[in-house]
Amino acid sequence: MEILGMYPTWYVPYIGSGWVMGITGTIHILASHTSIGAAFLFALLETKAYREGKPWLLDYIRRYGIFLLIFSYIWGSVTGPGIWYSTTVASPRGISGLIHNFVWVWATEWVFFVTEVIGVYALVYTIGKIDAKTHLKLTWLFAIASLETLLLIIGILSFMMWPGGDRWYRTGSVLDGFYNLNIFAQMSMRAAFMCVAAAIVGSIVVAGVKDRAQRTEIARFIAKMGGVGLVALIPLFFWYVQTLPPNAKIILAARLPAYTPQLLIGILATTAFYLVWLAWKPTWLPGPVAAAMTAFLLLFGLWPEERARESLRKPYVAGQYIYGNQVISRDVPGKGVRSEIPAMREHGLLALHPFVPADLKEITPQNRLEAGRVIAAIACSNCHSLEKTGLLRPLPAKFGGTTDPRVVRAFLDGPLYTGAIPYMPAIPLSEKERDALAYFIAHSSEGPATLSAVKPKSPEIR
Ligand code: HEC
Repeated sequence: MEILGMYPTWYVPYIGSGWVMGITGTIHILASHTSIGAAFLFALLETKAYREGKPWLLDYIRRYGIFLLIFSYIWGSVTGPGIWYSTTVASPRGISGLIHNFVWVWATEWVFFVTEVIGVYALVYTIGKIDAKTHLKLTWLFAIASLETLLLIIGILSFMMWPGGDRWYRTGSVLDGFYNLNIFAQMSMRAAFMCVAAAIVGSIVVAGVKDRAQRTEIARFIAKMGGVGLVALIPLFFWYVQTLPPNAKIILAARLPAYTPQLLIGILATTAFYLVWLAWKPTWLPGPVAAAMTAFLLLFGLWPEERARESLRKPYVAGQYIYGNQVISRDVPGKGVRSEIPAMREHGLLALHPFVPADLKEITPQNRLEAGRVIAAIACSNCHSLEKTGLLRPLPAKFGGTTDPRVVRAFLDGPLYTGAIPYMPAIPLSEKERDALAYFIAHSSEGPATLSAVKPKSPEIR
């Protein structure tokens, strides 16, 4: 009998593996976007310094540069590999699918990334030590290399949302995947956001400039850059929404938290107010206020935005052919990939999963609870916490806290089996598996609040 190409499941209690990736990714995005936005800020400011003969502007660039080395490059370098580690264990097939498509794009990105890292050190440490024109070239080189890293990564990220047509599935070509429907909208939206991030983080450094006239001039310059980014974000957001796949539009319309529009408007208004203040009263801007605004951007801007983007992609993790629970959902002839749904429909999940212990391959009344737990971990836990009190769409709550296995069973037999819900995978479990899973879910609603109270037996699935 064939097997599913599945890996062991990485289960993180309460927050789910999704949040681990989300937290790591959000910090990384703030660090990386700020760095790219700042690279352009440096290039523009230094051009101004050169043209208008204002060498003191370079001192701000040097200080912001050193701040970036600590803020962006240390945090970026810790969270970057963190994203690789966490996605590899949380979503091994998602990452594998991307690598099989985009390995050379990543290789190219690394060339630019190395240039960027060398560039930022070179630019910070040679200020005032080499002639002005050469330094200006170096700064522009840093800015362009930084931007290239973003452009290349967005091609991959936007493919994760969807290729946007049928072509890629037939050809499997890297360019068909890269130039997907979503890429330019997402690229421009992020470029606009980078200007905002660079301005807000840059205001922390502005707060340290002693000379009042100089502080005012720099503050107005960065406030203008942030303002342009903020205004551009609004139409770009609507363009981005236009390029989303149908499942994402359904989630956007119906499944995001009800306060999402108010939240978006609130963040825009607060940021706009801050930038106006920065331009208007730059001499009254204590460092802690600027730092608090950066934290605000991270917590209320990026985190909900990244969570929403993750939700919008559901039920897929990549390219609309790999489900969030790692099962391959459709044929991709261009890559020689076959859908695993027919095999699951025929044999169920446990029998085909290579990492399920032998004593769970056959469900009996004795191992029913344990089998249900393992099925939930494999098939649902990428998108749902299994604990009552979990934070990631907790399963017991999604079933309304029911303790009646028959209620759960009706859902498993119906929409979940056929895949009738646009934001959830089709999960065609066998008769006995549905029975065990329903039993486990009903049990976790009534029983212990924590999953660990249901004793784990199989060491590889925790
Ligand atoms: C790829 C991600 C994914 C997987 C895997 C997944 N779900 Fe869901 N599920 C979702 C999303 C997204 C929602 C909408 C949730 C929300 O609005 O918070 C949802 C909602 C639900 C709901 C509520 C019904 C509704 O329409 O809102 C139930 C019940 C549910 N899931 C059960 C399950 C079970 C049982 C499994 C495993 C056998 C599972 N899900 C696997 C993504 C997933």
